Amino acid sequence: MSLPSIPICPPFYFKGVRFMPLADRRAVEQVESFEVRDDDVFVSAYQKSGTTWTQQIVSLIFAEGDVGEVSKIPLMVRVPWLESIDVMGTGKPFPEVLNSAPSPRLMKTHLPYHLLPPQAREGKGKIIYCARNVKDVIVSFHNMRAGGKDFPSGTFDENFEEFISPEQAYFGFWWDVVQEYWRHKDAGNMLFIKFEDMKQDLRGHVVKIANFLGKTLSDQRIDEVVANCTFSAMKENPATNFTKDPAFKGKTRNNFEFMRKGEVGDWKNWLTDQQSQTLDAIYREKMKDLDLTFELQ
Ligand code: A3P
Repeated sequence: MSLPSIPICPPFYFKGVRFMPLADRRAVEQVESFEVRDDDVFVSAYQKSGTTWTQQIVSLIFAEGDVGEVSKIPLMVRVPWLESIDVMGTGKPFPEVLNSAPSPRLMKTHLPYHLLPPQAREGKGKIIYCARNVKDVIVSFHNMRAGGKDFPSGTFDENFEEFISPEQAYFGFWWDVVQEYWRHKDAGNMLFIKFEDMKQDLRGHVVKIANFLGKTLSDQRIDEVVANCTFSAMKENPATNFTKDPAFKGKTRNNFEFMRKGEVGDWKNWLTDQQSQTLDAIYREKMKDLDLTFELQ
């Protein structure tokens, strides 16, 4: 099956947040009345922050490490993107589709905290939030835009300027979005993790996520989950490295692969000193009251 062509339409705004055209206004609106179930799991992250990685970990935990099972269906179908359209299936907005999906429902979202389904903010279901240092997010985002034909492109400098503009940044201003999740991290139904920490200790994070989800897996099962969610395993797997999936044929340019580098510190190859200092200054100003820091290399 190949994916339908998604026309590059203008970005849209919802409650002051700018959305990429690949998200869908009807879906974002439907999220406001989305009925959350106790066993729902929301994998949330700012784009390019480890969303897919966390989706794969969660999905494998639910499948007890059985990658054969998990790889039969693309990750974006197993853990659908809540505020988008079901392009590979019904063509309807995902909240509508998920209303009649069996439990447990695993979902991905890039929504800022205040736009999550109200019942999730009231404590229903579970939210795993994955944050990544902003410098690598900018680089990863630029590369995805440069490599995907359905994305609004732009030079690195243009995309950088857009990213640091609160009105123009897609899915919200990074510093506001991450801050808002951080401030809610101790709500009983949220686990806040960092991309850089997962790189340091993947197994420890798989165990942490399994515990948070109330799943008890044997050491051997945990090892299987870990083996199947390393960067190299996910790069080889077309169910996670979407650009290897035949459905994506013709959708990319410049030999782009979704699993691009998966490193901490690639920003050093892209940002000028001036750009790096600009980001440091915004971080100091916006995050000064928070005990939240990120490894940068
Ligand atoms: P890079 O572009 O820096 O390589 P998201 O899923 O939120 O869109 O994030 C995509 C980023 O996460 C990409 O970063 C991708 O390579 C990285 N990534 C995905 N799976 C990973 C893994 N198992 N280990 C390390 N990085 C991973």
